[in-house]
Amino acid sequence: AAIKTYQFDVQVANVSRLCHAKPIVTVNGMFPGPTIYVTEGDRVQINVTNHAQYNMSIHWHGLKQYRNGWADGPAYITQCPIQTGNSYLYDFNVTGQRGTLWWHAHILWLRATVYGSIVIKPQQGTPFPFPQPEREEVILLGEWWNADVETVVKQGNMLGLPPNQSDAHTINGKPGPLFPCSEKHTFAMEVERGKTYLLRIINSALNDELFFGIADHDLTVVEIDAVYTKPFTTSAILIAPGQTTNVLVQANEIPGRYFMSAKPFIDVPLAVDNKTATAIFQYKGIPTTILPKLPQLPANNDSSFALGYNRKLKSLNSPKFPANVPKNVDRHLFYTIGLGMNPCPNCVNGTRLTASLNNISFVMPETALLQSHYFKNKGVFTTDFPDKPPTPFNYTGAPLTANLRTSIGTRISKIKFNSTVELVLQDTNLLTVESHPFHLHGYNFFVVGTGIGNFDQKKDPARYNLVDPPERNTVGVPTGGWTAIRFRADNPGVWFLHCHLELHTGWGLKTAFVVEDGPGKDQTILPPPKDLPKC
Ligand code: C2O
Repeated sequence: AAIKTYQFDVQVANVSRLCHAKPIVTVNGMFPGPTIYVTEGDRVQINVTNHAQYNMSIHWHGLKQYRNGWADGPAYITQCPIQTGNSYLYDFNVTGQRGTLWWHAHILWLRATVYGSIVIKPQQGTPFPFPQPEREEVILLGEWWNADVETVVKQGNMLGLPPNQSDAHTINGKPGPLFPCSEKHTFAMEVERGKTYLLRIINSALNDELFFGIADHDLTVVEIDAVYTKPFTTSAILIAPGQTTNVLVQANEIPGRYFMSAKPFIDVPLAVDNKTATAIFQYKGIPTTILPKLPQLPANNDSSFALGYNRKLKSLNSPKFPANVPKNVDRHLFYTIGLGMNPCPNCVNGTRLTASLNNISFVMPETALLQSHYFKNKGVFTTDFPDKPPTPFNYTGAPLTANLRTSIGTRISKIKFNSTVELVLQDTNLLTVESHPFHLHGYNFFVVGTGIGNFDQKKDPARYNLVDPPERNTVGVPTGGWTAIRFRADNPGVWFLHCHLELHTGWGLKTAFVVEDGPGKDQTILPPPKDLPKC
């Protein structure tokens, strides 16, 4: 094992896209930011220095940070933000994980421009459980706004209205040649006929689940969220914000130029789809003047493709990479995903949209939860988050008013060390028609079941996949449906659970688990680092 060190200078840089130049917050002046390359078993030290006029914190999405929530990053959950002029060293071990993950700012909407990839190579002598690719390429899917992010945030948060949709989706920060002034801002990947390539695809978009595909080329899914899967072949993948997907692609077509593209999936047909990002899958030696061909991606509202695709995802579950699914459950949690209205003195109508779990909309504390827990400071949060909704109702059929009795609070749930937890996330009768990608920090979990309608405690568990369910860190809860996940609470700390649509996170669709220390000396939260930022 080695120590890999990085210096991240958070600084403003001028970037231009779609004929608009504007200052954006970056790491080291790069958009997207630098890739972190590590080998499984390495220790990583990333010194983040904040030169920007915004408070900053960075999250290493999907890294488990065993006993080490201090390095996890979500502002006000595991740390106070790094203030302008200050630095903080994120110091952590990468153990028991290999594959593609990513990092992003975890404060306000700054992850719109502050994000990058994490590539974890398997340990030396441990080959991939699939054919060795000729080369690999990171594909970061994102969004671009012509307006400055603050304007967009204000629209989402203050007026109680959805923000402007972004002006383009992007592939490695580039919208591609279908947008104005974007010929230069097109990502191209050169391939040779007969060779196989590994794409490490990451959805870092703020608010859109995406389809991704390459014209005339099938994709073989081999890994999701840094966990190997049973390989399967598909014409397109579906990927929610926060998720990663590794695919193999064979350059076995007539040498030419093919578009790869990413476009949103949402359960209502969009009036105009003007946001599809494109990049070029370019066979070697083919002149760049030839017009590429567009892939046939599923329609924007193709929820049956989405359902079918997600059903194909299974853990590899090999002797070397077993799926250790908890067979018994110590703690059953059932959280409804709701939407309500709450008073908002500064808002246009005096109210604003509020999103909730079990009718509780989470209020960010003014100091970090992990410190408060570790140092036993009272009055920052309460551990009375209910295991079930206060009043059960017909979640997917009842009128919206059942959702409107929303209360607010910094309420979280306390979990016993090493207990097995099942969490059923139940969507309710919402105005928004999109699936909610839920992300749990500090853990991977198994997606043991999912379905449409109300979760049925009698029938549905009998149909769970407890053998080879997908293991991941972010999972979509389908519109008008539910998803059940299981994990063993063996990582002590305070761990954020939230919808990875930034709009919904901002509305309060989040809470946290405080997992208690275990009895062993090596089962407790590590002491905090000396340079831990203060609020
Ligand atoms: Cu990728 Cu809490 O986030």
